[in-house]
Amino acid sequence: MKDANEVVEKARSYYDSSDADEFYFNFWGGEDIHIGIYDPPGIPVKQASLNTVRKIASHVEDALKSNAKVLDLGAGYGGAARYLAKTYGCHVTCLNLSSVENDRNRQLSEEQGLSHLIDVVDGNFEELPFDRESFDLIWSEDAILHSGNKTKVFEEIYRVLNPKGNLIFTDPMQADNVKPGVLQPILERIHLESMGSVSLYKNLCDKLGFEFIQFEDFTNHLPIHYGTIRKIIQDRRFEIEGKISNEFLDRMSIGLGHWVDGGLSGYLRWGILHFRKN
Ligand SMILES: C[S@@+](CC[C@H](N)C(=O)[O-])C[C@H]1O[C@@H](n2cnc3c(N)ncnc32)[C@H](O)[C@@H]1O
Repeated sequence: MKDANEVVEKARSYYDSSDADEFYFNFWGGEDIHIGIYDPPGIPVKQASLNTVRKIASHVEDALKSNAKVLDLGAGYGGAARYLAKTYGCHVTCLNLSSVENDRNRQLSEEQGLSHLIDVVDGNFEELPFDRESFDLIWSEDAILHSGNKTKVFEEIYRVLNPKGNLIFTDPMQADNVKPGVLQPILERIHLESMGSVSLYKNLCDKLGFEFIQFEDFTNHLPIHYGTIRKIIQDRRFEIEGKISNEFLDRMSIGLGHWVDGGLSGYLRWGILHFRKN
């Protein structure tokens, strides 16, 4: 069993590294660093990433329109927070482990005149620095997979969410009943021994007192997305080299290949999970 603090520190030092920051901010998706929805097929990563944000928001529009206080867990550079603040005028708190990403988030929100609607808090989603029942809506995109203590994350979410509040998130997950060992290359890359799954999240949430609303399955976009990013590395390697270490780029290409293979083999799942606190 890996130590949960060790997992958190690994994620922090990874996202704080200049290689990761340079790669994710300039070559992955800019303000959004999650899996995109490629509809229509062939669209650029940026557009696909925005599709994801819009799609998630469409599930909770009523709450967003009624001025919900939103908490984004593992908010990265804050692309979703700015979209929600701009589109719905709601207040978003971004909680994120990486201070490098948080600095960019604050700067982008300032430049876009949205600082009054967006707070950026340095922190770990396994120990939320907020009072109980502080938010109406908890949002997260492709971040919870990094936790080595997912029970704690959901206990914390339950604690800080208002009664009848919405929890909505995406996460790269394992499919149910995956044969032992097949996900090893992916798990090694994220420094974990297991991944979440739709049934694991449903069970955790059920035990805590959440009502399951929906899982919208977009698994087919997972290999498309990781394959697209891998192609960006191949096609733009000349431009990227010098800014990012070769070691990072080689490791990233191999890692993306594992995600593509896992997605195409049916071992992985990705989509939008929606729960409501009773
Ligand atoms: C793939 S990125 C997604 C970022 C953002 N949600 C987006 O969609 O653009 C994963 C994020 O999870 C954050 N993260 C990982 N472990 C975390 C933890 N224990 N607490 C808070 N944030 C964490 C990282 O800092 C990173 O920003």
